[in-house]
Amino acid sequence: MRREWISRGEADTAELAAYFAKLAQPGTVIALDGDLGAGKTKFSQGFAAALGVRGVVNSPTFTLIKEYEGRLPLYHMDVYRITQDEAEDLGLDEYFEGSGVSLVEWAVLIPDLLPECRLNLRIEHAGGESRLIRCEGVGAPYTKWVESLPEPARPPGAENAAAEETNKNGEFENGKA
Ligand SMILES: Nc1ncnc2c1ncn2[C@@H]1O[C@H](COP(=O)(O)OP(=O)(O)OP(=O)(O)O)[C@@H](O)[C@H]1O
Ligand SMILES: [Mg+2]
Repeated sequence: MRREWISRGEADTAELAAYFAKLAQPGTVIALDGDLGAGKTKFSQGFAAALGVRGVVNSPTFTLIKEYEGRLPLYHMDVYRITQDEAEDLGLDEYFEGSGVSLVEWAVLIPDLLPECRLNLRIEHAGGESRLIRCEGVGAPYTKWVESLPEPARPPGAENAAAEETNKNGEFENGKA
């Protein structure tokens, strides 16, 4: 099951994250992909907040994995800097069977370690602050989650403003040193 979600800014991305956070259950696995600076960590921050995690959720690029406590435990990972073998040696795959929720940034780099049933989210730049978020649910319950995805809540007139923003076609820079 695939659906596309158009995010016009950080708030929309947080709204999508909150939708999935409310549905999350023990063992939920969410694979987050997309270019540098696409919004994977922003999504994760919105997800953590909606899961009831208090305090700051940072990018785990250098720590690889950070654990938080919300309604459920949250395992926030970023595998950008490691190989699949290293991820396996670190036992990252054991988190996927744990009682918490796994959010994996750059999941595309560890294809063999991920469970088959999962939510795949790919965030693409779409000009300025717009992002196209491709949502794919594989297996239960993820297909249902994607099927029931609501349209983003938008104030009246927001569509036009968003179209103008997209036309500016701003470039985004975010170097990963
Ligand atoms: N619609 C949007 N959704 C999410 N983030 C947005 C949006 N519009 C602008 N941004 C900005 O884009 C940046 C996204 O950065 P973020 O760290 O979340 O990216 P990332 O995908 O985790 O990158 P990396 O691969 O380096 O970890 C933030 O500065 C955020 O403010
Ligand atoms: Mg990130």
